[in-house]
Amino acid sequence: MSEAVALAHPNFALSKYWGKRAGPGNFPAVPSLSLTVAGFTTRTRVRFDASRSFDHVVLDGQEANGRTRSRVVDLLDRLRRAVGEERSAEVISRSDFPVASGLASSASGFAALALAAVHALDLDWDESRVSDLARRSSVSAARSVFGGFVELTEGAPGAAEDEMLAATPLASSGHLPLCVLVAITTEARKAVGSTDGMRMTLEHSPYAGAWLEEAPKLHARLRHALLARDFTRVGELSEASALAMHATAIAAGVLYWNGATVAVLHTVRGLREAGIAAYATIDAGPHAKVLVRPDDVVRVAEALRATAGVLRVIEGRIGEGAKLLPAGTHP
Ligand code: DP6
Repeated sequence: MSEAVALAHPNFALSKYWGKRAGPGNFPAVPSLSLTVAGFTTRTRVRFDASRSFDHVVLDGQEANGRTRSRVVDLLDRLRRAVGEERSAEVISRSDFPVASGLASSASGFAALALAAVHALDLDWDESRVSDLARRSSVSAARSVFGGFVELTEGAPGAAEDEMLAATPLASSGHLPLCVLVAITTEARKAVGSTDGMRMTLEHSPYAGAWLEEAPKLHARLRHALLARDFTRVGELSEASALAMHATAIAAGVLYWNGATVAVLHTVRGLREAGIAAYATIDAGPHAKVLVRPDDVVRVAEALRATAGVLRVIEGRIGEGAKLLPAGTHP
């Protein structure tokens, strides 16, 4: 038996990836920039075992099936093909936060899975190769391999399916002190996954072309503001990227927000009017994430808790990249 255990944190995109490039290979259509978030963790154990006749996947204590299982098996198959491995595997994974609700569980999930699977096979792969493997399953997972502020470009146009595209660390966790307050607005799973949501957006939104044109510009400005350590500009551009992504999606009928999501947007505007720098970002789900300076955490968390429909507020800090855990650790 060969096994390894890894942990990874989710990441929240400040400049959003939304839309895949046409053709095979799971390449993003636009560049993105994210923040790896400590305070949320996925732990995954992968065990290749010659006595198994099929892959066994257990996520959060439940045997996975359907599309959830096949996405995990696809990553294992890709790796097995690349290195000539024939054994089936057992995958046991646990996340300490709500999954499939726009909290980037696929990012931490596939980053931890890729790292654990590569090390279970004793492969001497660097982080870029692990990031590329994770990206083929879920684009945002490429970024969770690294800590701090992380960039993923859209790669070379027309790249072949087997061309490598990995995320790269852009700045360390200490580069720009900020916290993310996550306003949880439901315990339910989302109805439309991000893969389907972005496909529907590109197919049906009258503004898809504008998004594909605007997203790289927003990204370049945000990257510049981040490198200049300009918190206000980073916040403004993050909110602008999220609103542009959702406006484009909503025009295609892809609506991830609930009433509390909108209420948080209003709370955040009110805070800014009162002189507190707070900026919202929203992913493929109804939770809202609010970027604040560390000194404003208590005040902003209080305002979020008092917002109608917010169930609870979780504080996230800038986290490290995916890492291996000692053999024998149970997820
Ligand atoms: C809104 O990476 O989950 O969180 O590549 O199809 O697995 P797939 O999509 P996924 O999409 C993430 C979308 C987002 C924005 C982002 O993380 O950049």
